[in-house]
Amino acid sequence: MNIKEEMLAVVETHGPWTAYNIKLADGVETAPEFSGPLFRLRRSVQIISDLTNKPWKDLRILDLACLEGIYAIEFALQGAQVVGIEGREASTARARFAAKALGVFNVEFYTDDVRNLSVEKYGTFDVIFCSGILYHLGAADGCAFVKSMADACNNLLIVDTHVGLDGKSTVVVDGKTYCGTTAWEHSAKDSEKTKQARTWSSLDNNTAFWITEPSLINLLRHVGFTSVVKILAPQSSVQSSDRLTFAAVKGKPQKIILSPELENFPDNDLPEKSTLKPHPYQSSGSPLGHFLMRVRRRLARTAGRGAGAYVREAGHKK
Ligand SMILES: C[S@@+](CC[C@H](N)C(=O)[O-])C[C@H]1O[C@@H](n2cnc3c(N)ncnc32)[C@H](O)[C@@H]1O
Repeated sequence: MNIKEEMLAVVETHGPWTAYNIKLADGVETAPEFSGPLFRLRRSVQIISDLTNKPWKDLRILDLACLEGIYAIEFALQGAQVVGIEGREASTARARFAAKALGVFNVEFYTDDVRNLSVEKYGTFDVIFCSGILYHLGAADGCAFVKSMADACNNLLIVDTHVGLDGKSTVVVDGKTYCGTTAWEHSAKDSEKTKQARTWSSLDNNTAFWITEPSLINLLRHVGFTSVVKILAPQSSVQSSDRLTFAAVKGKPQKIILSPELENFPDNDLPEKSTLKPHPYQSSGSPLGHFLMRVRRRLARTAGRGAGAYVREAGHKK
């Protein structure tokens, strides 16, 4: 059989590709109807390269809920050793076939529930890529999943996820409360077959927990990540304001030589709603505020300094 015939046999057995066109050979593409530049792929590769700053050949990468394997295969083509875990066998079968057809052998795909992730089962990874899965899990499962990713992560975790906005649902794990939004995945009446056929949805849970941004950042810190940053560039092509990407680094907690007492001050959790206000320099919306700002500026000019410097000092004195 040639590649085209083999691909048609995969489609016959497991169904058609559902996204992300991959060109397997001249005239053989997995999902031509979805062709176009893969912006999210470029973004993910750039983030991993920049934040690990290591040659790809030195990286062991885990792609969780990898669907048809496009990210995992790309990371392997870049030179990494890659493991992809996906809960639907039909998707894993398409991923395995695409890798084989492209002659990519440094990627392995497993059909498994990401909730089974453990170091005992899969070992540890330099990079864990967790895209589009956290918001498909229930509240307690999602928190446990983040903990299992932390255990299996040697260095960098990328989490690309929708976040909850209202924070009305809560879950308590190890005495800490996390907030989120409950989202619908399946109806209680849906059969296993119907659930399985929803290629992009949860495996079995009818609802999922979309953790809020502050709760996710707190959770990442509680399970051992020392820094959490939000990725703002390259931009995501998923254009909704609740879809965010975080990079969490599992580093070594640093001792501060000039302020050793900091050891007695654990980093605070982020509040669900920020109470921060703009710097006084920018919060002079009222006429009185503008008048005071002009006075401050004049004083600053008299003292031969920029207004910013004056306000900065005034802010410190408060
Ligand atoms: C929205 S798609 C995301 C696919 C891909 N990671 C991406 O970012 O484009 C969600 C994927 O998660 C898989 N999935 C959902 N629940 C899962 C679970 N508990 N274990 C493993 N895979 C799961 C689905 O089968 C589907 O492939």
